[in-house]
Amino acid sequence: MIEFEGLGMAYPGHQGRPPVAALQDVDLKVADGEFVSIVGPSGCGKSTLLHLVAGFGKPTSGRISVDGREVSKPGSERAVVFQQAALYPWLNVRDNIGFGLRIHGIRGREYERRVQHYLGIMGLTTFEHHAPYHLSGGMRQRVAIARALITEPEIMLMDEPFGALDAQTRNEMQRFLLRLWRTLRPTVLFVTHDVEESILLGDRVVIMTARPGRVALDLRVPFARPREWDLVLTPEFIDVKRRLLSVLQPQLESAQRVEDFISELESPDDGAREDGHI
Ligand SMILES: Nc1ncnc2c1ncn2[C@@H]1O[C@H](COP(=O)(O)OP(=O)(O)OP(=O)(O)O)[C@@H](O)[C@H]1O
Ligand SMILES: [Mg+2]
Repeated sequence: MIEFEGLGMAYPGHQGRPPVAALQDVDLKVADGEFVSIVGPSGCGKSTLLHLVAGFGKPTSGRISVDGREVSKPGSERAVVFQQAALYPWLNVRDNIGFGLRIHGIRGREYERRVQHYLGIMGLTTFEHHAPYHLSGGMRQRVAIARALITEPEIMLMDEPFGALDAQTRNEMQRFLLRLWRTLRPTVLFVTHDVEESILLGDRVVIMTARPGRVALDLRVPFARPREWDLVLTPEFIDVKRRLLSVLQPQLESAQRVEDFISELESPDDGAREDGHI
């Protein structure tokens, strides 16, 4: 289980500016094998939250624990998939996928077996010797997911993994991810800007407030699995979506007001020029 208790994160301010409070008082419990979608305005600390679970940094207040142990550094039981597939450009597909195994000292027959297995389930077998830059965006993301899954992590931290894909590829990747999740049952924290995606994939949808990010709503998705893709057309789905949007929309507006205020502070005369005064 992942537990967030009074979690806060403030980044030091640049050039004498005050610190940026990215997260404040985040309290959340995620059960083993649960799929939790996280939605919130840009800049509300979603990536920060995942980075802290991954152990890439330390919170400035509160704590995160996994199975009762406080997270203090990265660990092989936690894997991250970013929005832009962060592949090693100098390694081909199979070596990218096998990278995590090598780090863990897995070589020889076991290495080969697992790499072939993941190439197969990802539909990448015929591309195993290709360089990442020869792949489409969807394929690159499949390589990134295979690379994260191959060490069989208990926790998958996914930061808008399908955000940069076209609608059709995104849809294929969603189905694909759900199939993998059903088989391997990792705990998933899945950040997305897409409310429909958050409902279709998640057991729960957590909506965060504008910065500093806190939990604004934690909603259990009331639809059985497997979910058909025309679920989005049903009145029940639209009701859930409406409920989420009613909480999310004011947060998006409040985040926008803060951004406007900051940009006005940083360039006070832009507005005047637009008004035609200069
Ligand atoms: N390393 C850093 N140093 C200073 N400030 C940072 C750092 N990383 C993030 N921030 C700030 O913390 C806040 C939260 O950032 P974060 O990237 O976690 O937001 P997000 O919710 O993931 O946004 P988006 O939806 O745009 O990806 C932002 O104001 C950002 O500028
Ligand atoms: Mg982010």
